[in-house]
Amino acid sequence: MGDEDSVKRLAVFISGNGSNLQAIIDAIQDGQLAARIELVVSNRREAYGLIRAKEVNIPTLYFPLRPYLESGQSREQYDAALAERVAAYQPDLIVLAGWMHVLSAAFLDRFPQRVLNLHPALPGCFPGAHAIERAYAAFQRGEIDHTGIMVHWVVPEIDAGPVIATAEVPIYSADSLATLESRVHTAEHHLLVEAIRKVSDPRLTR
Ligand code: GAR
Repeated sequence: MGDEDSVKRLAVFISGNGSNLQAIIDAIQDGQLAARIELVVSNRREAYGLIRAKEVNIPTLYFPLRPYLESGQSREQYDAALAERVAAYQPDLIVLAGWMHVLSAAFLDRFPQRVLNLHPALPGCFPGAHAIERAYAAFQRGEIDHTGIMVHWVVPEIDAGPVIATAEVPIYSADSLATLESRVHTAEHHLLVEAIRKVSDPRLTR
């Protein structure tokens, strides 16, 4: 699919299960996405996504914050060092797919207009961790009747920035948290691939 120039170089950042990383791997293997994952980064050693990456021979980097803080260095120094390591892979796009660390300008300024994030809620809703649980609780209280997901360009403010794609996700009164989570994740796996395809298309301006 496409010539070599149109194949985007991706770095995918994860902190956990990596089901969205898997969706990207599958879309590439199925010829749905003209991209190559050059690197998978995790800030958590036990992230299952690291195993997913190794299974298909994608280079991985485990890069934790804690040693920086314990040696008296700042989050900005961690972010700058991470940027340095990632820059060596020359990514066209950095995809935050369940990456649970807020990147500062020390990282973002190295990759202008190249970092996108998946958030399991609609724009402006439930920023930060546990967004699906908080949406489920808000539904139980009668405050919302649906939730959603978004992919956006990353700015230093958490889970905010210019929106690339969104999708609504219904919540039903029979839902458990687990059934809602499952529906959200299924929607994410489609939207993330669609968003990467959208920003990779040279005919579309950002
Ligand atoms: C996804 O639901 C993603 O939207 C969320 O983490 C999950 C990772 O799942 N991200 C955030 O909450 C960012 N604020 P995965 O590891 O199975 O892809």
